[in-house]
Amino acid sequence: MQKSVPSIVVLISGRGSNLSAILAHSQTFGDYRVSAVLSNRPDAAGLDFAQMHGIPTAVVDHKQFSDRDAFDAALAAQIDTFDADLVVLAGFMRILTPGFVSHFEGRLVNIHPSLLPAFPGLNTHQQALDAGVRLHGATVHLVTAQLDHGPILDQAIVQVQPNDTATSLADRLLKLEHRMYPRAIAAFANGRIRVENGIVVGSLEAPLIFEMEKS
Ligand code: GRF
Repeated sequence: MQKSVPSIVVLISGRGSNLSAILAHSQTFGDYRVSAVLSNRPDAAGLDFAQMHGIPTAVVDHKQFSDRDAFDAALAAQIDTFDADLVVLAGFMRILTPGFVSHFEGRLVNIHPSLLPAFPGLNTHQQALDAGVRLHGATVHLVTAQLDHGPILDQAIVQVQPNDTATSLADRLLKLEHRMYPRAIAAFANGRIRVENGIVVGSLEAPLIFEMEKS
């Protein structure tokens, strides 16, 4: 019997540039399928993009719910209708409740724009500049109840240059995010990498490193 292609649901809140890279990878390589794109914001630009590509979309507007638990329950119910193998957070700007995280335990992934465990939370590029680090990056990780923690599936690295601003760092890093996130999703969804005792094992690819001369 032929093995079926793993399916993913992508959650966004905004422009959706990672979503577009995730979709492009699936169209080129076919090693996972995007079953749906969900947003907590009706005006998220990524929704239009998904629709243009014939991907089903849904909005669960957090403003329509009285509290976080009610919102997360509705979001989880909506995600469950797509019966996906993986739930992929791509610029989804809501803090998720422990109940939501445990419902999707082991199949909820996120991309965070820092080399975790350094710089969890917001404004990660400014945090990196303020700390004076020479290397910065992004991390794809499994989501656990603790914000911006969880087993690390992949990382990508950029060098901090003397004239960098938070914006220039973010721009350079985003190019790597677009290469890293699809490949990490594909590797994890297809079982080429897996987590054992909190550590990723299997056929790991070398971390992506931004080379200045290619910018
Ligand atoms: C990215 O920087 C990602 O690392 C972070 O949110 C941003 C999303 O950007 N989690 P986009 O919506 O994918 O363009």
